[in-house]
Amino acid sequence: MKKIAIIDFGGQYTHLIARRIRDLSVYSEIIHPESFEVNKDIVGIIFSGGPQSVNAEDAFRINLDINKNKIPILGICYGHQLLAKMVGGEIESGENKEYGFTSITCNNANSILLKNIESKQKVWMSHGDHVCRLPKNFKITASSDSIKIAAYESEKYFGFQFHPEVTHTKNGMIMLENFVVRCTNERNWNVKSFKQQLINEIREKAKNRKLVLLLSGGVDSLVTLELCIQVVGSENVYSIHIDTGFMRLNESKEIMEHFDELGFKNIKVIEAEEQYLKELNCVVDPEQKRMIIGKLFVDIANNELAELSKEEEFLLVQGTIYPDTIESGSTDKAALIKTHHNRVDEIEKLIDEGKIIEPIKELYKDEVRKLGEELGLPYKLVHRHPFPGPGLAIRVICSDKAKIEDDYKQEEKFMNEILSEFDMEGKILPIKSVGVQGDFRTYHHPAVVWFKEDASKSWEIINECSSKVINKLKTVNKLVFSLNLVENLRLEKLFLGKQNLDELRKVDAILRKRTDDIKDIWQMPVVQLPLRNADNKLCYVMRPVCSLDAMSASVYEMDFSYLKDIIFEVQGKVNIGYIFYDVTTKPPGTIEWE
Ligand code: XMP
Repeated sequence: MKKIAIIDFGGQYTHLIARRIRDLSVYSEIIHPESFEVNKDIVGIIFSGGPQSVNAEDAFRINLDINKNKIPILGICYGHQLLAKMVGGEIESGENKEYGFTSITCNNANSILLKNIESKQKVWMSHGDHVCRLPKNFKITASSDSIKIAAYESEKYFGFQFHPEVTHTKNGMIMLENFVVRCTNERNWNVKSFKQQLINEIREKAKNRKLVLLLSGGVDSLVTLELCIQVVGSENVYSIHIDTGFMRLNESKEIMEHFDELGFKNIKVIEAEEQYLKELNCVVDPEQKRMIIGKLFVDIANNELAELSKEEEFLLVQGTIYPDTIESGSTDKAALIKTHHNRVDEIEKLIDEGKIIEPIKELYKDEVRKLGEELGLPYKLVHRHPFPGPGLAIRVICSDKAKIEDDYKQEEKFMNEILSEFDMEGKILPIKSVGVQGDFRTYHHPAVVWFKEDASKSWEIINECSSKVINKLKTVNKLVFSLNLVENLRLEKLFLGKQNLDELRKVDAILRKRTDDIKDIWQMPVVQLPLRNADNKLCYVMRPVCSLDAMSASVYEMDFSYLKDIIFEVQGKVNIGYIFYDVTTKPPGTIEWE
């Protein structure tokens, strides 16, 4: 089969590129640079992004003789810089960093990849270095305010500093399709054949064993369960739902009701709240939390499996999907952003021993949903908001300090200079959360901003302000917005405890009820902060995002008066302080705060 090879330099979006190419009905395969070899099936090559600097001595290279090569190559981000360097161009490391939405102007007369689009384009950038010089036979096909060479082409080589594969580059699919057309006219790959491939794989791996599935209740484990049932029959599938105590209000109960309605019988619920809270007592570090949650999950599942195995041999099945693995640094070269609970050491060991299979691990959320529909699952279940395995545990920002230690007065002054351009002001918050910038994990401060009295308020201003503040400030990786002036915030000790989790559950339930019907909201984490207002009440963040596949996300622009109304409702029903609204795209933020 003709294919396009995606060379993995460790970018967060490598699989997404492969996905997009498959969406264009051409088979794509991810290949590590060291193992790449030209063969007659490869009709095109894409160099992915990556966390390194092309100028670094140990930067990843590819084993390819560029002077003899005849195959069209597209370089994206790191790949754009590497390709430029391979053909004799120059790369500059420097000040012109760009993260998030960026406007480019295309010089697309006679361009192969930028044809059929207007010259002004919104694209998604995430880079530090940039290409500053190209050989003579190359033309510059797009520029941004910060960099002259945002895209280039020659007859067979193409480079984009931005990411055409993420949905936030509005016309990215047209650009990728233009590349695919340049490579081949054979377009015959499709999703149905992939479903068949999954079925064959499960059948082969299961042999005559029964399958045990760890059921979170989310879309991924539900689709995996249905797939397993269709392959080996419901009498051969057994599922375990561990109630960690980090589920949302009534969630475990609702999950059981759903499955009952669907007619699945072999489900066992294990109540493990007390055990989880005990193990996580006083734990603050997000990575440590994930490790403990993952390990306990395996221990509980193992005990259960040991019991089951006394009777017969089982194979464990997990509904891990691709974004869960990539941000755990699982393509060989990707940087670790967060360790997914399905990727802790204990699980990796079981995978290596062939005791776990993860049938949908190459798929993205929207593909999982498509697969679910293909399998005949009800629309309502397949289109539920995603919910992370560690649940609310990663939505309580814990703190073992009641005192601010970092000194960021200078940064805060600088931030307020930027904010004054937008008629806004703000504070850097004395807490930290996880983000992703230029393919690397960040663990920095969020900042809260609000409009000055009488300022004209709009989402356009907030979005512009958010990307400017985060791009300019080293210590800030997230921006949250407050409808009102924020005063007298106090950092307090906060850990995972039943009482504060119950409060979070209530706040989350009310907010969800008011937002569940908004179709554009793909997911809405609600986060509890270790910050109290003047009345000693805990403060919260709501994070409604628009996304397709969790690999990138934009902010849902809620009507201000609706926002005011729902905040008023929550504060009237639960005794809490400020509710901030996260206005950070991904990147530089992640969807969850930890
Ligand atoms: P981030 O925060 O990395 O999240 O932008 C991307 C998507 O993955 C979900 N997520 C997880 N899901 N276990 C899960 O099952 C995890 O440890 C985990 N961490 C993040 C997150 O809710 C979002 O949909």
